[in-house]
Amino acid sequence: MSNGQEGNGNRAVSPNGAAPQPERRYAQIVGWGCHVPEKVITNKDLEQIVDTSDEWIRSRTGIEQRHVAADPKETTATLAIKAARKALETADVYPRHVDLIICATSSPEHTFPATASIVQDALGAVNAGAFDLSAACSGFVYGLALARGLILAGDAEYVLVIGAETLSRIVDWTDRNTCILFGDGAGAVLVAASNVPGGIQATVLGSDGSGADALSLPAGGSAMPASLETVSNGSHYIKMDGKAVFRFAVRVMADATRRVLEKAGLAVDDVDLVIPHQANKRIIQNSILRQLKIPEEKVFINLQKYGNTSTASIPIALCEAIEAGKVKPGQNIVFVGFGAGLSWAAAAIHWSVPVEKREYGWWRSYQRRASYQAAAARSMWKRALRRVYSQVLPTPDEDEWPETSPVKEPEGSD
Ligand code: ACO
Repeated sequence: MSNGQEGNGNRAVSPNGAAPQPERRYAQIVGWGCHVPEKVITNKDLEQIVDTSDEWIRSRTGIEQRHVAADPKETTATLAIKAARKALETADVYPRHVDLIICATSSPEHTFPATASIVQDALGAVNAGAFDLSAACSGFVYGLALARGLILAGDAEYVLVIGAETLSRIVDWTDRNTCILFGDGAGAVLVAASNVPGGIQATVLGSDGSGADALSLPAGGSAMPASLETVSNGSHYIKMDGKAVFRFAVRVMADATRRVLEKAGLAVDDVDLVIPHQANKRIIQNSILRQLKIPEEKVFINLQKYGNTSTASIPIALCEAIEAGKVKPGQNIVFVGFGAGLSWAAAAIHWSVPVEKREYGWWRSYQRRASYQAAAARSMWKRALRRVYSQVLPTPDEDEWPETSPVKEPEGSD
């Protein structure tokens, strides 16, 4: 890591043992973690809810089950926090060293504040900026592209990129066209500045808003504010033209993969592993396998267990691919996703960090736990202080602000 802070992180290793090049910066994924709710809904369970069958869902999508946040206390933020903690732990980096938290989500905690800010507070990432990123299922890869850009520009050392969803809260459980597809979960990666060549080599981002109607959550925004009518006619649920999305997805998954490889100076044959957005097995087969002729053993699929977890699908799949021993230093890996917008995104990664699980001992885990407890206490204390201030202290008039107030306009400004 280039910053020399106490978090050691998963130090990137040069595959041939060559000396690191200090003059260049690279953006490496050094930490990863995921979390899914406990409750599982199988296809058989869905047969009891809508007119569908296990056979139909398996053959048309590949999905066998999905995890859902059944406990109302489980939200997008709580899932994101758990995944983020695991990512920081894998990297052995403390939250105070994180410069930015990007939470890609289609089911945020609220329209505002950002779910990322809630995560920042819970982690005790006191030096981090935080914002949510809305690019539907492409959001996680959009987040990686931003993280890479900030790191290469020298504006950040550590960026936490999270994909987190509780889609079960915005799915119409009476609509068999959509409720069979989605699941809840979160995945996170820590992207770090490094001087070892490799990491996120290239990204491709795309959008075609002419397809905005194909997949949307119509109500709750400025175009259709919440009202009794929007609630009663189900406009707060996901609406989808499945066939249109399918056709679009098959095309862009192949195109985006080709383009990102070209940008990274790689050929299709150079790819060791593709981790695609886990929406539908048939989409992956028709794009990555058939069009690009990438063999099945180089494509990681786990959608049978989780369904489509939108922004969380790629980071969850990454964690499982690492766990399964499919990710190794020296490999070229592609992440590729698509989603509402319509949008798409791909990233080419030259994996350069060790993936072995490391044990840090009880003292490290104790320190981590203590730091999260301290973050919770600090948050409560600040909330209490804010309440006291707003009740006891008068709001200062403009001319009562101190001269050095950061809100004071600099001289000569318009
Ligand atoms: N169970 C049984 N039958 C069903 C179900 C179901 N759950 N859903 C639809 N059917 C019926 C339809 O009504 C239709 O019947 P009909 O022929 O009598 O009219 C028949 O099955 C075939 O329906 P199709 O829509 O043609 O089925 P298709 O093979 O296209 O599969 C699916 C539908 C799975 C939705 C597919 O189109 C798809 O995966 N599309 C992409 C969706 C997607 O990935 N969305 C997420 C994008 S990412 C994001 O941003 C959130």
